[in-house]
Amino acid sequence: MFTRSNQVYIANVCFRNTHVTTIKSKLVDKVKHFTFTKMVRAWIMDEDSMVDQRKPHRLSDEHDISLDYLRQLGVLYWKFKPSTFDRDPAFIEMKKSRGYTYQDIIEVSPEKLDNYEEKLKIFYEEHIHTDEEIRYVLEGSGYFDVRDTDDKWIRIEVKKGDMITLPAGIYHRFTLDENNYIRALRLFVGEPVWTAYGRDKIDENHPSRLKYKQMISCN
Ligand SMILES: [Fe+2]
Repeated sequence: MFTRSNQVYIANVCFRNTHVTTIKSKLVDKVKHFTFTKMVRAWIMDEDSMVDQRKPHRLSDEHDISLDYLRQLGVLYWKFKPSTFDRDPAFIEMKKSRGYTYQDIIEVSPEKLDNYEEKLKIFYEEHIHTDEEIRYVLEGSGYFDVRDTDDKWIRIEVKKGDMITLPAGIYHRFTLDENNYIRALRLFVGEPVWTAYGRDKIDENHPSRLKYKQMISCN
């Protein structure tokens, strides 16, 4: 669900699932608390590996990818005001509804991370997780890239105030942009598991891939 008046986007689930339907209805009740600012931007990438990964890599003459298309891939998007997000009733309710019981803060920059350039390359390796990847951007910016159903890379630009959730099993990667700085909240259901499974190490029969494909088939 996306409404222009509140910049809220709810997806990644098959609404035939009763539990998820409950989550949806709860969140719909809360959308009035959100403030419209701008739409998150996403585009198809040019996949030119000779150009620095931190560049936009926007395929020329392509329009922005719609939020509806992201929804079909199972990507969730919210917007919260950074100065008040942790006492925003909508944020609190969203965490509760989705079972996000863990949170910490990660900061990435050349000053904060040893072997920064090397780490960036690791973040940029295509992988999946067995759980959702959830980030709320407190400061800075970056790009999450996700594979669409045609195996094209979609680049999602995240900035201060953006919250994004990638479903378990979606092929993805992350990079900072040319500002080389991001500070973000990481959320998780229960004890965090950050294990990444590289695409070159798994196949389409991986349980998280099967579950993901089942999920998007009903979006
Ligand atoms: Fe990841």
